[in-house]
Amino acid sequence: MKTLFRTDLIDKEPSLVSVPIRKRMMCLNESCLDPYQAIKEQFQARLADIRLNRYLSPVTQELHHKLAAYVGCGTAAENLLWGNGADDMLYHIFLSVREHDQAFALSLTPSYFDYKTFCEAVGLKIRFLELNEDFSFSTEEYLKLASHPDCRLAILCNPNNPTGNLFPKEQLRQIVEALPDKLVLIDETYYEFSDTTFAGDLASYPNLILTRSFSKAFSGAGLRFGYAISSPDNIYSLKKVFTTFHTSILNQVFALTILENVPLFCGQVLEVMRLRDDMYEQMSRVDGLKVYPSHTNFLTFTVGERTPQLFEYLKERDIAVRDVGAQRRLKNCLRATLSCPDDNEAFFFALNDFLTN
Ligand SMILES: Cc1ncc(COP(=O)(O)O)c(C=O)c1O
Repeated sequence: MKTLFRTDLIDKEPSLVSVPIRKRMMCLNESCLDPYQAIKEQFQARLADIRLNRYLSPVTQELHHKLAAYVGCGTAAENLLWGNGADDMLYHIFLSVREHDQAFALSLTPSYFDYKTFCEAVGLKIRFLELNEDFSFSTEEYLKLASHPDCRLAILCNPNNPTGNLFPKEQLRQIVEALPDKLVLIDETYYEFSDTTFAGDLASYPNLILTRSFSKAFSGAGLRFGYAISSPDNIYSLKKVFTTFHTSILNQVFALTILENVPLFCGQVLEVMRLRDDMYEQMSRVDGLKVYPSHTNFLTFTVGERTPQLFEYLKERDIAVRDVGAQRRLKNCLRATLSCPDDNEAFFFALNDFLTN
């Protein structure tokens, strides 16, 4: 087939999210707290001070300082780079390591589906190591695959989406240590719900890069703000594949205002963790239902062969969850995001109703 574009894009689908749109959106790991409504006056006061006719704004420097303080562990402005969501950071990291046609990234599977989407977009190949049934994996097998000369990036999602588990810290450290010549990316999109981070390890490992998001703990999915943390040298190299005025001043102002209200969002995170643990307990007691422990803002579960019917049943009840069953280890699994108590109750009620009918 003739194409005006890269030939390897011919069979690729555009990046689209296909989820049911329902009143109770429990399918995209969003937050039910709208930051704009919650801190509207502060956003508006900040907006009054910015000049959108200018490329540059003092907000950028302020944001660097506030974000560095939030990350802690000795992080400075030179350790940070932000963009339009964690996805955007992943995309640019993939772009920056794509050495040649055979270059590949290594990821676990099941893991975040869009690693593949974005690798393919930039022409980076991707290989996978499948998780064991209990969602653990072998360090030895991972290192065997990652040691291939064409492997340019080792990705680890911690906590992992969509399985919800954390990998042992020592296991991930062992991997970072064993691959001094490869970039190791730990995706910490859900870190706040797990309270586990590798930010304190960055000084020891020059090959380590972390990505984080404002979409989950900071309730800003529509805002589109995410960031990478790494050594100043890595950040400098990564900047080379970004356009000059990459992230809108508006995004930066909103991100800054969110960071000025960290306690509000931390309170929300704690509430979600409480709701998650309660829901996990409740779901664990239901006959015919298997739910997996989670260190995130979602729960992954299955009712076995009847799962596709449950998915439809929830949809009919105006509840959207995510079907994650396409990945072999998660056959017949659904993923539900913890939402406001009303949504969570409706979900649990519908689940019970389905299983008793
Ligand atoms: C593991 C993981 N990484 C990255 C992202 C992308 O986050 P963002 O909304 O900041 O682009 C998500 C979103 O769900 C995710 O689950």
